[in-house]
Amino acid sequence: MIETFTETDWMRLQGELQKARLEAQQLSATLADAWEELTLLYELAEQLRGILDIDQAVELALIHATDIVSVEGCGVLLKNEGEWELHGAICPNGREEWLRFDFGMQVAEEALKRKRGFIVNEITQHPQWGEAAKTFGVFNIVVVPLNPGGHAQGALIAWNREKGEFTAGDLKLLSTIAAQTGGVLESAFLYQRLQETFRGVVRAMAVAVDAKSRWTAGHSIRVTRYAVELAHAIKLPESEIEKVNLSGLLHDLGKIGMPDAILDKPGKLTDDEWKIMKQHPIIGYEMLKDIWQFRGIILDGVLYHHERVDGKGYPFGLKGEEIPLVGRLLAVADGFDAMTSDRPYRAGMPKEKALEVLMECAGTQWDKELVKVFIDIQRMQQGG
Ligand SMILES: [Fe+2]
Ligand SMILES: [Fe+2]
Repeated sequence: MIETFTETDWMRLQGELQKARLEAQQLSATLADAWEELTLLYELAEQLRGILDIDQAVELALIHATDIVSVEGCGVLLKNEGEWELHGAICPNGREEWLRFDFGMQVAEEALKRKRGFIVNEITQHPQWGEAAKTFGVFNIVVVPLNPGGHAQGALIAWNREKGEFTAGDLKLLSTIAAQTGGVLESAFLYQRLQETFRGVVRAMAVAVDAKSRWTAGHSIRVTRYAVELAHAIKLPESEIEKVNLSGLLHDLGKIGMPDAILDKPGKLTDDEWKIMKQHPIIGYEMLKDIWQFRGIILDGVLYHHERVDGKGYPFGLKGEEIPLVGRLLAVADGFDAMTSDRPYRAGMPKEKALEVLMECAGTQWDKELVKVFIDIQRMQQGG
C-alpha cells in the first residue's frame, strides 16, 4: 500500500522543517557566543600567566570583563589592610566615582561576605542602596568577589548593562574572570610583600652601616640616591635601576667589619690602616655572595665601587670597561658624597667644588661619560 502525503501533512512537515532550521540557527549562534566567550577567557588565562603585578592583573580583568559583557562601566575594588581602594575602572570619565563611596564599598563587602557573586537589577528600588543608586545614576549591578579566602581580597563590579537586565550568564562569566584573576592577585600580593620585606631588610643593613660612625651617617642612602638618578639619566632599564638601588644601599656593607678606631680616626689613615680599610669591598662581597638574589649587578657594585678607570683603584686594579658599569656608576656617586661630607680631619667641600674635582679626574679616576651626565644632573637640580 502506498502512503500519500496530504496537503496537511506537507504543511506540518514544512512547519517542522522550519522549526528545526530556526533551532539550528539558534544553536549555532549560542555555540558561536560560547566559543567567543571561551576564547576570551582562554586569552585572559594566557595573559595572566606570569603576571606578578597587581595593577596589571586588575587591568587585564577589566578589559576582558568589558569585552564579555556590554556595560556602562566595570571596576575593581581591593581591600588593603582593611580599607577598600578603587584599583581601576573602565567607564566614561568620572562615572566610576560611586565606587569610592560607601555605596560601592558596601556592594563589594557584600560579595566578599557571601563568597559568591550576585546581581541586583532595579537597584534604585533596593532598600539599602536605592537612594545612592539614584544619586549616582546606577540602575543595575553585577558584583563578584575576588579571592574571598585569600590575602588579596576584592570585588569586580559591573554596572548599567547596555541592553536589558543582568543575567545568570553574565554572572557566570564574570565569576570565571574573577576566579582566574583572584589566583594571580594572590601571587602578586605575596610577591609584593616579599619584595617589600627584602627591600626593608636591605635598607636596615644600610642604616646599620651608616650608623656605625658619625662620619658615615646617611652616606649609603645619599650614594644610592645619586646612583639611581644617574642610572635613570643613562636610561638603564627599570629592572637594572632597582638593582643599582640595592647595590647602592649595600655598597659599603663591608665597613661593618672595620674597627671603629679606623672609621672614627680623627686624622689621615696610616698605610697599614688603609690596607685594612681597602678590604671593605671584599668583606662586603663575602657577606652577601651566598644570597643568589644579589648575584650580578648588586654584588658587582659592592665589589667594584673603588676601582678607577686608570687601573689605580682597588681591590683588583681593573681598567676602563673591565669595571662593570654599576661599579663605575657607584664610584662617581660615592666619590661625590665622600667629597661633600665632613670627615674627622676636614670639612666637606661645597658641591660646586666637588663637581670641578669630578671633572678634573674624569677619565683617570672616574668614567668620563658618567661624570658628564652626573654634573648635568647636579647643575639641573641646582637650577642652572
Ligand atoms: Fe666604599
Ligand atoms: Fe661608600
